[in-house]
Amino acid sequence: MRDVTEANLTDAVLAKLAGATNPRFQQVMSSLLRHLHACIREVELTEAEWGAGIQFLTAVGQKCDAKRQEFILLSDTLGVSMLVDALTHRKSTNASESTVLGPFYVPGAPELPNGTNLAAGLPGAPTLFSGRVLTVDRKPIPGAQIDTWQADAEGFYDVQRPNLEGMRLRGKFQTDAQGRFWFWTVKPTEYPIPTDGPVGQMLLSMGRHPYRPAHIHTIVSAPGFAPVTTHLFVAGDRYLDSDAVFGVKDSLIVDFVRHEPGSAPDGTKMERPYFTVQYDFGLLAAR
Ligand code: BEZ
Ligand code: FE
Repeated sequence: MRDVTEANLTDAVLAKLAGATNPRFQQVMSSLLRHLHACIREVELTEAEWGAGIQFLTAVGQKCDAKRQEFILLSDTLGVSMLVDALTHRKSTNASESTVLGPFYVPGAPELPNGTNLAAGLPGAPTLFSGRVLTVDRKPIPGAQIDTWQADAEGFYDVQRPNLEGMRLRGKFQTDAQGRFWFWTVKPTEYPIPTDGPVGQMLLSMGRHPYRPAHIHTIVSAPGFAPVTTHLFVAGDRYLDSDAVFGVKDSLIVDFVRHEPGSAPDGTKMERPYFTVQYDFGLLAAR
């Protein structure tokens, strides 16, 4: 096609999808192109602005490596991850709600016995996290797995500590015959998502702060059930209503209860104050 014009260019590009071999690819690409062209027309994008856009996307790609995923940060901060989550996991009574995976999940965390302290030797407020994994009609699921990870008391994940070898504050636990699990960790703290890259610059230009409310991540799974990727948020955190990645849901906010030194519910003798947090995960049967 020659002499494309402002009036016929979008149709000319869409026509090029006629030979696409995968119908879903054709549908997604066609919608993406229509919306992209419409946006450019609506704002009358200049060449300089499009150049800046290309530079931004290039910088996002260049910032990615084995430990840093700037595209996930971009998706999360633009609300795209939570929109895909909302469309994929429509709310169902008694099943735990899901939220973003985030860029700091690392597969292969160690399988640990219930009661393990993930934070041994680390600073922070000791916290006993316990609960059950249940079916949606509240029956215990033995042998379910809780794969958990979190930032340390200063708000950094192990993969953000340049001189740290191996994993920290990560582990996989299995529910017992009554569907119970429990482990020790530290009370999480609010933290900023990484701002030393193009996504941080974008947030600044938008006039947004980069903070996430304190939370503990989990992926809960069991044979025959749909896995849930979620977090538990600390009640009272000041960023619950302005999470930089839009990930907070009311049902995921839990109380961290402070206790004076003494015998903890799992029998551990605590010589300093500690917290307990309890949450029962609900899993839907796999379809
Ligand atoms: C996180 O909670 O680990 C996270 C999620 C989305 C973006 C950045 C960090
Ligand atoms: Fe996190």
